[in-house]
Amino acid sequence: MWPGSLFVAAVHLASGVQGLAVSSRDVLNDAQLTSEAIGDFAAVKFASATDTVSSTSGVDCKSFPGDESWPKETEWSRLNKTLGGALLNPLPPASACYSTSPNFNAQTCRFLLDNAGSTSFYLDDPLTVLTQWPQGNTCLISRNPTGNCTRGGFPVYVVNATSVKQVQAAVNFARNKNVRLVIKNTGHDFGGRNTGAGSLSVWTHYLKGFEFLPNYKQPGGNYRGPAAVVSAGLQVWEVFRHAERYNVTLPAASCLTVGSYGGWMTGGGHSPLSSKFGLGVDQVLSLQIVTADGRYVTADPKTNQDLFFAMRGGGGSTYGVVTSAIVKAHPQINLTIASFNFALGKTASTTPGRDVTITDLETFWRGFNEVFAFGVPTADAGGYLWTYGIPTGENRYQMQVQVQMPGLTPEEAAAFVQPLLHTLNDLGIPVAITTPTTSVYSSQTGSTGGQPANGYFSSRLFPRSSFENATLFSAAMTAARGTVEAGYTFHGLNMAPTLKVAGYPAPAGLNPVWRDVVMHADVFARINMGTLTPAEGAAEQRRLDGYMEPLRAATPGGGAYLNEADVLEPDWQHSFFGSNYDKLARIKRERDPWHVFWAPTTPGSEAWAVRTSSELPTQNGRLCRV
Ligand SMILES: Cc1cc2nc3c(=O)[nH]c(=O)nc-3n(C[C@H](O)[C@H](O)[C@H](O)COP(=O)(O)OP(=O)(O)OC[C@H]3O[C@@H](n4cnc5c(N)ncnc54)[C@H](O)[C@@H]3O)c2cc1C
Ligand SMILES: *[C@@H]1O[C@H](CO)[C@@H](O)[C@H](O)[C@H]1NC(C)=O
Ligand SMILES: *[C@@H]1O[C@H](CO)[C@@H](O)[C@H](O)[C@H]1NC(C)=O
Ligand SMILES: *[C@@H]1O[C@H](CO)[C@@H](O)[C@H](O)[C@H]1NC(C)=O
Ligand SMILES: *[C@@H]1O[C@H](CO)[C@@H](O)[C@H](O)[C@H]1NC(C)=O
Ligand SMILES: *[C@@H]1O[C@H](CO)[C@@H](O)[C@H](O)[C@H]1NC(C)=O
Ligand SMILES: *[C@@H]1O[C@H](CO)[C@@H](O)[C@H](O)[C@H]1NC(C)=O
Repeated sequence: MWPGSLFVAAVHLASGVQGLAVSSRDVLNDAQLTSEAIGDFAAVKFASATDTVSSTSGVDCKSFPGDESWPKETEWSRLNKTLGGALLNPLPPASACYSTSPNFNAQTCRFLLDNAGSTSFYLDDPLTVLTQWPQGNTCLISRNPTGNCTRGGFPVYVVNATSVKQVQAAVNFARNKNVRLVIKNTGHDFGGRNTGAGSLSVWTHYLKGFEFLPNYKQPGGNYRGPAAVVSAGLQVWEVFRHAERYNVTLPAASCLTVGSYGGWMTGGGHSPLSSKFGLGVDQVLSLQIVTADGRYVTADPKTNQDLFFAMRGGGGSTYGVVTSAIVKAHPQINLTIASFNFALGKTASTTPGRDVTITDLETFWRGFNEVFAFGVPTADAGGYLWTYGIPTGENRYQMQVQVQMPGLTPEEAAAFVQPLLHTLNDLGIPVAITTPTTSVYSSQTGSTGGQPANGYFSSRLFPRSSFENATLFSAAMTAARGTVEAGYTFHGLNMAPTLKVAGYPAPAGLNPVWRDVVMHADVFARINMGTLTPAEGAAEQRRLDGYMEPLRAATPGGGAYLNEADVLEPDWQHSFFGSNYDKLARIKRERDPWHVFWAPTTPGSEAWAVRTSSELPTQNGRLCRV
């Protein structure tokens, strides 16, 4: 999770359920691409047994605008017909800020700068991605933009998909015409896995169906009970409104605008309920997918087991386009949160309470360590310990703590936190908590807006041993302190999504280290990549990586969470996927010999790379074989 203020807008649109699709017909809008619809338009034909790798194995690069091989206007417009008019050729919204752009409009630009972020404008935009630098920073939203706005790493064409048929046509066209394909849902990805220069984008945002299944039996599996059919474009806030309506719990990311059933679910997916119900991958009972050959298939423990394995933890953008999933619906549960902060400051105000300031440096860091030491008991009790260690300037620091306990009453949560408060009080940190807050987990409301940011960070998954072995714990805390003293924000999330809480043993492509994890931590650089040159940005990346090394050394057997990580993570294959990597890469070779789907740091992605002159791994360049 990103520090809230960067993305979360101020306006609260507690917008009820209006506009949500709830009929089963929406969910089952799975009319497929037929040979009648294909007709003589060869560019949208399905892959056949004879049309396998050989047709593209000689190709060195994906076709690029300007190339002889780039589809002609007439072909794009024919594709648009097959799509029922859903093909877009959008301009980056920030083009309104550039006086040399035909799209220049000062008023629109002011809206983008001042107001769009508190609305869903950017989330409803076909191109915008919320971490900007992978696009190449060629058209930034800015009051005083320099240079001209160019498309950069944004796609050329976007399919605004509302049906399975359209997704199939897009995949077939991209494969047959050797055009780069990308998939964008909400655009939350941190590493540019949702965008690409010279590409056709499948935009899943408007796949919004939902259907509750009170008594579902998983084919070939051991789950029987309440479930829901969910379309791939649902965002967290929409999922919550549906869950409320049926009085059930559907675990989801803490940020209300993340997509629940695209990147979050396929890449892992943690939530405040992870120590109770497991990760996003553990919710999945069945998947509906358009695969690289253009076919629409089901994957569950009985059918297409390889895809069912790979798409639960192998990440998005690799094996196919998820159009919908069937997920577990848990009983309704409350989330109860006890929170307090303490800071090291110049002036001491030691009034006991939720916000206290102390003056002794070493006391602050002893308190920091004690908070983290409470992470394992919290996770083992089914909770989620949410912390921020923040440098506030001039050798001052702040520690923010939320003990998030699903299923406990406020009294129970208060009692649970007492031992930690006693320890901190004994150290000379007079924190106390007011009554913990409680609310139905799915009743959360808040801003459904968001705006792009341009930050950089790295992360680490901590196995249990790094907390339980005193030598390693001490080294880990020293390394964590080192990051904050160096000016980074250290964001910890203690949780334990063990196989036991995950609920069923179907093998998943998820990095196996997750079953032994007791903390995922992000280390944020407090920089804006949009104001740095690519060389400066790359230098910042190397500097941060230097501070990650001691954390890695103190967490042997750990890894990193692919959805919240540095795209330049060293040895990413092992860090992101652990011992599952070889199997994930094999399934990729078998299922997508054409490399229709490609994004950085996905299984099998080493075979291709974006050719860019930037020092940063942007998506602003041609995609070619290595
Ligand atoms: C503010 C913020 C808060 C976050 N909080 C959390 C959190 O609490 N817990 C957590 O686990 N993560 C969190 N994340 C990380 C989040 O899980 C990832 O960014 C995730 O990839 C987002 O998925 P998306 O589908 O919304 O976004 P996108 O950027 O649209 O997609 C992400 C990736 O998935 C692929 N993809 C999307 N849809 C599909 C599909 N239907 N089929 C196949 N591939 C697809 C895309 O191609 C891309 O590679 C947060 C991120 C942000 C920016
Ligand atoms: C696709 O067709 C629709 C409807 O005819 C049209 O509005 C749209 O501009 C077309 N898209 C492109 C890229 O030409
Ligand atoms: C920007 O665009 C203008 C008008 O099209 C052109 O004259 C100018 O050379 C461009 N500048 C750069 C830096 O490309
Ligand atoms: C995409 O399609 C949806 C659903 O039909 C529509 O509401 C939305 O306006 C479209 N967006 C764009 C940018 O065309
Ligand atoms: C909702 O579910 C909870 C937990 O299962 C149950 O206690 C409660 O009675 C339900 N409420 C309604 C309105 O059905
Ligand atoms: C759950 O939260 C609701 C408020 O959303 C509250 O009314 C209810 O009493 C809580 N239930 C429990 C068991 O604490
Ligand atoms: C703790 O970890 C260190 C470093 O990996 C190791 O040498 C030591 O044996 C471990 N101690 C215990 C008690 O396991």
